[in-house]
Amino acid sequence: MTDVSSMGSGPGDDRENLTNRQGHPVYDNQNQRTVGARGPATLENYQFLEKISHFDRERIPERVVHARGVTAYGYFEAYGAWGDEPIDRYTRAKLFQERGKRTDVALRFSTVIGGRDSSEAARDPRGFAVKFYTEDGNWDLVGNNLGVFFIRDAIKFPDVIHALKPDPVTFEQQPRRIFDFMSQTPECMHMLVNLFSPRGIPADYRHEQGFGVNTYKWVNQQGETVLVKYHWMPKQGVRSMTEEDAANVQAQSTGHATKDLYEAIERGDYPEWELLVQVMEDHDHPELDFDPLDDTKTWPEQEFPPKPVGRMVLDRMPDNFFAENEQISFGTGVLVDGLDFSDDKMLVGRTFSYSDTQRYRVGPNYLQLPVNQARKAPVRTNQRDGQMEYFVDKDGESPQVNYEPSLIDGLREAEYPTHDEQGPEITGRLTRKRIPRTNDYLQAGQRFRLMEDWERDDLVKNFTDLLSQCDRPVQERMIWHFFLVENELGQRVGEGIGIGADDVKHLEPLASQDLTDEDRERLANLG
Ligand code: HEM
Repeated sequence: MTDVSSMGSGPGDDRENLTNRQGHPVYDNQNQRTVGARGPATLENYQFLEKISHFDRERIPERVVHARGVTAYGYFEAYGAWGDEPIDRYTRAKLFQERGKRTDVALRFSTVIGGRDSSEAARDPRGFAVKFYTEDGNWDLVGNNLGVFFIRDAIKFPDVIHALKPDPVTFEQQPRRIFDFMSQTPECMHMLVNLFSPRGIPADYRHEQGFGVNTYKWVNQQGETVLVKYHWMPKQGVRSMTEEDAANVQAQSTGHATKDLYEAIERGDYPEWELLVQVMEDHDHPELDFDPLDDTKTWPEQEFPPKPVGRMVLDRMPDNFFAENEQISFGTGVLVDGLDFSDDKMLVGRTFSYSDTQRYRVGPNYLQLPVNQARKAPVRTNQRDGQMEYFVDKDGESPQVNYEPSLIDGLREAEYPTHDEQGPEITGRLTRKRIPRTNDYLQAGQRFRLMEDWERDDLVKNFTDLLSQCDRPVQERMIWHFFLVENELGQRVGEGIGIGADDVKHLEPLASQDLTDEDRERLANLG
């Protein structure tokens, strides 16, 4: 921090001169060039026009979701094992192999719905996006703090986000729109039970979990694949806020979580998370009551124990919030050798969406920005030009042959690592169908029963407050869903808004849903 008291603008001031971006010294930064002291201004006023037109362009489009966020840097340190087993049995990804091996990371925490300056005490899922700068190129693990998601097919993403975002006419976020959509989307029940409990407002970014949410694959040296889910557990513990706590925090600051992170790292209190991974054989697991590719589900920990594979420490904040937080770009397609996609229908949609929006939001050469570059791996492409390109990414080689194949010069294809494509063989008709085993209520009910009393009370209160602002048909359908989640939830929220089981038992299941035998039994016993 500069000592302002010793500064002056006269002789003895040893600061550097201000220039414009052409390198011209700025002699007068207070007055435009005008005809006489009272104007008019002249159009050749280059210095002024440069200054003001750059200012006019300071904002780039904010992220369409997750606009409010903060980036921090640190490292990931591998344990070299999956629990007690050698990790190379499951993945050949280099960053995991050796005990103690460190990989630089950037982590961006975020909220989802609000704009860039919105409150960090909002009830909202939190984004938890980690970029690993590995020697094989970058790996992005783009997750959230709740472990599940609202929907299981990417085609519904714009709708769920429109329902959650402010009304397009009044620009007010409205429970009536949110629950209108949710009441017609039973797959979101598991997410709602999490989001409207205290977990929906983490105390700050340091005290929240992270999850990959979607199902990915690991690939070993033999090309064998397993399905995996990722979990980040904070060493600091998990802390959440009730609606009332959050209102108090928000009354003081809308950026308390960013401030908390800056302050913790500044005082050397580096936050740390352990990465745990669940593994499942790579097939459709007909024995389970859910589909392993369904991101509205968690995998039972008794059957699929999460095992530690490493830890992550954050120890540095960015120097330039815009360059490192606004322009950092993550995507689910950004994987390295030994890691792979699954056929999860959300993951496929996400993988298109991220780089698509980043070409628009940041620009087609967004991967040349320092924060997004694969810093630890050579980058040599034949991609050229486009807005703001400022070097040829060929890692220093002669840039003339910008095509492949060539007998003259240029780049050649890398050799494919060790094996042909593996994994289950897939056949089927082209179709538009939801997955079997939707089982929308079971895990939502289990989550509700696992909550502590105060969490359950807060959940019921939140649902009651918000549903009381909704239209009667939406209220009835939501109470119907809640009875299917867990009798107590339907009963208590229903009581709060004056709707009992008798008022909803006439409702037919939605055309867009499948019920299990257990769901039907619950319905038969309603009222
Ligand atoms: C950000 C799309 C589901 C986590 C974004 C962005 C888009 C997007 C367009 C803005 C990216 C940018 O401007 O750089 C989608 C689509 C989804 C989906 C189409 C479903 C099909 C999810 C899910 C999660 C998630 C399930 C959590 C597991 C995130 C995070 C960010 C983000 C953490 C912020 C990344 C950052 O900090 O820059 N998403 N998303 N998204 N999404 Fe998703």
